[in-house]
Amino acid sequence: MSNNLHNTFNSKSLKLWDSSEQASIYVANQIAELISEHRKQGKSVVLGLATGNTPKKVYQELVRLHQNESLSFANVISFNLDEYYPIFPDNDMSYTYFMQKYLFGHVDIDPSNIHIPHVDSNVEDIEEYCKAYEDKISSLGGLDLQLLGIGRNGHIGFNEPGSSFSSTTRLVDLHPVTRADAESDFGSLEKVPQQAISMGVHTIVQAKRILLLALGERKSEIISKALRGEITTEIPASILQTLPQVEYVLDNEAASLIK
Ligand code: F6R
Repeated sequence: MSNNLHNTFNSKSLKLWDSSEQASIYVANQIAELISEHRKQGKSVVLGLATGNTPKKVYQELVRLHQNESLSFANVISFNLDEYYPIFPDNDMSYTYFMQKYLFGHVDIDPSNIHIPHVDSNVEDIEEYCKAYEDKISSLGGLDLQLLGIGRNGHIGFNEPGSSFSSTTRLVDLHPVTRADAESDFGSLEKVPQQAISMGVHTIVQAKRILLLALGERKSEIISKALRGEITTEIPASILQTLPQVEYVLDNEAASLIK
């Protein structure tokens, strides 16, 4: 642990829920409130969004709030954390497809406000593309809220173990645990891409507010290490211990080893 990193972790940063449903609804409500507050002030809101199993119920609830309780996404500008590389956006395993299926296809977000770090054959210079992704976030004043899941190896976004805390959006190699966890979705390990484009750790930690959602027993071990263990690039999520703007939203099972 570097000397200038201090653990700001305290019980206020922990939100524990009996069920995954309650935890997800809490997160959806936090996002909805922020969207509405900004809307009332005539402002847009910049959201950093995650994919994977964890946020599915959050998105389901946001869609419900849009359909039944007139929550509008007209002022939302979104940036997704990551996308596989290479992958076609119409591939049903792409995160572009995922976001359309679970959220964007059901709400009134302006399609031109959606950003997913997708690189296709039209993009000649990946580094330049990634820099433009970072610049776009900064030019909008940064992320107002970043939603995170956590990988069983401690990754946030696809910042795998060993990722520098000063990393920004870039092409990354996926860790064996990450690829193994995606195997059942892709049908076989060979089909899981070797690489992805991911926002960096530095991109994430600059968000004004960060909600890390972890659900289920399979996340309990990494949650215990990331929240209570050493702050180390080997567990990228451990950097969050140093930040005052982080809330860990956990169901009982994910929190079972830290109680
Ligand atoms: C996804 C992402 C990843 C996931 C993590 C957990 O955009 O950035 O860090 O949040 O791999 O995935 P699930 O939720 O499927 O367990």
